[in-house]
Amino acid sequence: MTLPNPYLPEIATVIETVQETPNIKTFRVRLNNEERMKNFTYQPGQVGQLSVFGVGESTFVINSPPTRMDYLQFSVMRAGEVTAKLHTINAGDQIGVRAPLGNWFPYESMKGKNIVFVGGGIGMAPLRTLMLFMLDNRKDYGDISLLYGARSPQDMAFQYELPEWTTRADMKTVLTIDREAPGWEHTVGLIPNVLTEMAPSPKNCVAITCGPPIMIKFTLQALKKLGFEDDQIITTLEKRMKCGVGICGRCNIGTKYVCVDGPVFTYAQLKELPNEL
Ligand SMILES: Cc1cc2nc3c(=O)[nH]c(=O)nc-3n(C[C@H](O)[C@H](O)[C@H](O)COP(=O)(O)OP(=O)(O)OC[C@H]3O[C@@H](n4cnc5c(N)ncnc54)[C@H](O)[C@@H]3O)c2cc1C
Ligand code: FES
Repeated sequence: MTLPNPYLPEIATVIETVQETPNIKTFRVRLNNEERMKNFTYQPGQVGQLSVFGVGESTFVINSPPTRMDYLQFSVMRAGEVTAKLHTINAGDQIGVRAPLGNWFPYESMKGKNIVFVGGGIGMAPLRTLMLFMLDNRKDYGDISLLYGARSPQDMAFQYELPEWTTRADMKTVLTIDREAPGWEHTVGLIPNVLTEMAPSPKNCVAITCGPPIMIKFTLQALKKLGFEDDQIITTLEKRMKCGVGICGRCNIGTKYVCVDGPVFTYAQLKELPNEL
């Protein structure tokens, strides 16, 4: 029997791109094998390795929900070589995709609970997947709140969706930026401070947070002060990956491999790992 090669990317075509911010670009892609695309399944929070041929591959969350399968969406912040090359890719170009990889948000066990999303910068990408998935299955969940922050209005991704997110009757959205900016009509302040002011009740609630490490650190402290228990807080880890399938050992933290045991962890699980935050 020949085992499928876990390193072999599937070829996909970029059908659309969106320049979200000066350094974040979104790619909507379809696998070239239409049969495979039709049957492609994944869970909210799972990631993919995107490859630019001849350059390399990097990890990105699939930030479109599985309830909307016209395409797979990835949003890429420019960081180094692979992401800089990805930013030169346009509609019609071909890339490689290895997906789905990793674990996912435990959305089944969140049914009937209130949900608080706290996203910073590109950290909004994984939250977007789960949030849209929950909104598409709205009756399964209690109150849904979103606190989304970026450095400035220009750094906020998914701007074309913000008017809907801020006006939907079935969710509460607070947008915040670090410092006053001309024309900004929403909140000003750092995410952990704004979260403290919002003071969501921990009762029957799960908080899901994703963003830069410094934001996560203070957001976790704010959630703890509000009374959230460690197992009521969920976050994702961004450890560098190579194989993505638990073979190379590149992404290990203590006894865990982020590529198969994560990237989604509860704060209770993180506390058992060597100092990652
Ligand atoms: C599970 C997971 C999900 C991710 N989802 C997204 C996403 O949806 N959108 C997105 O834009 N990015 C995401 N990332 C981060 C993304 O994988 C890296 O930014 C990317 O690999 C950088 O590749 P590069 O070759 O361009 O940069 P490199 O040239 O390899 O690195 C440039 C700089 O960024 C640092 N860096 C690179 N990768 C990481 C990392 N993972 N963590 C911390 N520092 C890093 C390097 O140390 C270096 O200083 C995710 C990472 C993981 C592990
Ligand atoms: S990336 Fe190879 S073991 Fe996780």
